[in-house]
Amino acid sequence: MNHTQRFSMTGKTALVTGAASGLGLAIAEALAEAGATVALTDLDREGLERAAASFDERGWRAEALPLDVSDRAQVDAVVNNFATRHGRLDALVANAGVTAGPGYRTEAGQLSGVDDAQWDKVLAVNLTGVFASIRAAARHMKPARDGRIVAVASVAGLKSEVMCGYAYTATKAAVVNLVRQAAMELAPANVMVNGIAPGPFRTNIAGGRIRQPEVEAEFASMVPLGRIADTNEIKGVALLLASPASSFMTGVTIPVDGGIMAR
Ligand SMILES: NC(=O)c1ccc[n+]([C@@H]2O[C@H](COP(=O)([O-])OP(=O)(O)OC[C@H]3O[C@@H](n4cnc5c(N)ncnc54)[C@H](O)[C@@H]3O)[C@@H](O)[C@H]2O)c1
Repeated sequence: MNHTQRFSMTGKTALVTGAASGLGLAIAEALAEAGATVALTDLDREGLERAAASFDERGWRAEALPLDVSDRAQVDAVVNNFATRHGRLDALVANAGVTAGPGYRTEAGQLSGVDDAQWDKVLAVNLTGVFASIRAAARHMKPARDGRIVAVASVAGLKSEVMCGYAYTATKAAVVNLVRQAAMELAPANVMVNGIAPGPFRTNIAGGRIRQPEVEAEFASMVPLGRIADTNEIKGVALLLASPASSFMTGVTIPVDGGIMAR
């Protein structure tokens, strides 16, 4: 296998959650551009249709499949349907995630300010949704004795984070260990499970708050590279972890953070 083949997704299928926007959309683009047939899944039906049309224009193979990852039955149905129709599921990217509001610097983000309903909602999407997606994908990958599972965590799951709410930091830390646990179970089946821990990226998370110049500047000040990232900058690591190139990597979560974790 040469270098190009190692990073090729030709003939492979991939399913990405939260693919209508931001990092999920960029990851889906990378996989489709590398040759995969990609299931674009998301809550946001209009965003999905827009994304699918843009893939179509570029000659990439994609399907728009509405999915709320907090609904386990829906996750099973959508993953099974896609994998069965194509006779294979080579890669899953469990990316869908939501904010939990402000961090402890503001009163609303402090222990006493945490809203229980929001806590439950964030756990349902960021943790249960990732677990359900991994479980559904593993049912197809384990018997095939091949596969790549990629979960999108956050640097806020590797350390405390003043700008992020409790449920966010707790669920992202949980994803990091979910990755390790599933990696150990699935290693004998030759299925690799890894995570990505992004630093601040310019996306629509938290209503696109990070696009406000003062918020962007604050996040940028925490990054040794001195700026926040463009979504295209997630593509390299995502393709690495979803493709044959990562054949000896499992159980790790890789920061893509402009140096934050090294500080
Ligand atoms: N943007 C950042 O700075 C940053 C940093 C670290 C981690 N992340 C993580 O990256 C992932 C993607 O976030 P993003 O920044 O691209 O945000 P985004 O809001 O641009 O995209 C998230 C997508 O997920 C979808 N989604 C939300 N809830 C869903 C559900 N229940 N089921 C299916 N889809 C759902 C949304 O409709 C949206 O299209 C998240 O897990 C987030 O926590 C983002």
